[in-house]
Amino acid sequence: MIRLDERLSAVASLVRPDKRICDVGTDHALLPCYLYEQGARQIIASDVNENPLEAAKANILKFGCPEIKLVLSDGLKNIPECDDVIIAGMGGELIAQIISGCTFVSSDTRFILQPMTKAEILRKYLYSEGFEIILEKGAYSGGKAYTVMLVKYTGEKREIDNKFAYFGKCTDIRYISKVNSQLRKLANSQPELLSIIREEKP
Ligand SMILES: C[S@@+](CC[C@H](N)C(=O)[O-])C[C@H]1O[C@@H](n2cnc3c(N)ncnc32)[C@H](O)[C@@H]1O
Repeated sequence: MIRLDERLSAVASLVRPDKRICDVGTDHALLPCYLYEQGARQIIASDVNENPLEAAKANILKFGCPEIKLVLSDGLKNIPECDDVIIAGMGGELIAQIISGCTFVSSDTRFILQPMTKAEILRKYLYSEGFEIILEKGAYSGGKAYTVMLVKYTGEKREIDNKFAYFGKCTDIRYISKVNSQLRKLANSQPELLSIIREEKP
């Protein structure tokens, strides 16, 4: 049985196993193998680099998931239409760039996004391009707090304020505390950010 850490478990929990899934930047493909174990069968595991795909191939063999398709692709460039697009473990700016190259967005497409950095830039990008965050889930792995976003396309373009850009819809106290620390540092050069610091109550 494949065991995922809390971060990847949170990502997996937002994926619909009966849909066409693509894990962009799959690296070791642990997440696709886990989803396969959970019953998903239409899975693409893609990466821009050959080496991760070799590691992915080894795991696909090891865990016996023959139907996972490996695709070498820069972002979504070589990816056919999928329903659930996972982009995890990358910076928020790169995730935004990858989404901007998506050619198959419909009202049923879901993006499961887990930025390692610059989540505020990703949230601003999403709303300015007509996406909406349905929910966010906090996760804690390797001593760090993360958020995982479930996102859909509505077509309604909106500007968001700094408070929403930094915290989004994540109510996890560990994530709020991490963002507060980030804001205290940023406030040295942008003092207005002090006013959006949130209370750290569980
Ligand atoms: C830190 S790993 C994250 C692996 C896994 N998604 C996770 O969250 O544990 C980032 C992976 O993204 C891949 N990557 C970076 N830029 C990419 C791009 N433009 N398109 C596809 N994959 C990319 C890297 O090669 C690497 O394997």
